[in-house]
Amino acid sequence: MASLFPSPDCIGLAPGAVLLPGAALDDETGIVQALNEVLEQAPPRHMLTPGGLRMSVAVSNCGGLGWVSDRSGYRYERLDPDSGRPWPALPDSFARLARAAASRAGFEGFEPDACLVSVYAPGARLSLHQDKDERDVAGHPLVSLSLGLPAVFQLGGLARGDRTLKVPLSHGDALVWGGASRLRYHGVATVSDGEHRLLGRRRINLSFRRAG
Ligand code: SIN
Ligand code: FE2
Repeated sequence: MASLFPSPDCIGLAPGAVLLPGAALDDETGIVQALNEVLEQAPPRHMLTPGGLRMSVAVSNCGGLGWVSDRSGYRYERLDPDSGRPWPALPDSFARLARAAASRAGFEGFEPDACLVSVYAPGARLSLHQDKDERDVAGHPLVSLSLGLPAVFQLGGLARGDRTLKVPLSHGDALVWGGASRLRYHGVATVSDGEHRLLGRRRINLSFRRAG
């Protein structure tokens, strides 16, 4: 039987922060194939935080700029430090999804130049942080796409100690946050074990930014 209450396609979480359930499902095959190619060219790796800790999340990038972290800090780089080559190009299917999600959330004209690919094995987590290494944070939103295993996203406030909203994310869900929410703290709770039909024992997040 069809559900009496169809699932909403756009859920406001806070001013400027929107959840788009299933936003990527129409093109999941194209997106997963492009993702596999990116990870083949630039394999995910566990970077060190500036404090010298190994991140439990393994990361890679595609697009003109890639986010990197090491003992000297966080920054964007044109070249993959592991290979010395430019990061893989941003696949068209990724750019289309990011643009469409931003526009559905009210941010027209979003053109990402960076996509951070975060690979969570069961047990991995991401502690609360702000995304503020981009040149013009006020001018562009963040678009974040969840693939593979589910996870609980923590959307905090503008101060680290603010209460967090727990947002369950499934394969294909997109989150957009910009405007008054752009500098909100956020993180991901420890990912539980499981097996996803397309991505196996992994949660993968694509985080689209306008970095340069
Ligand atoms: C991030 O904050 O860069 C990633 C968030 C996520 O994995 O959902
Ligand atoms: Fe982030």
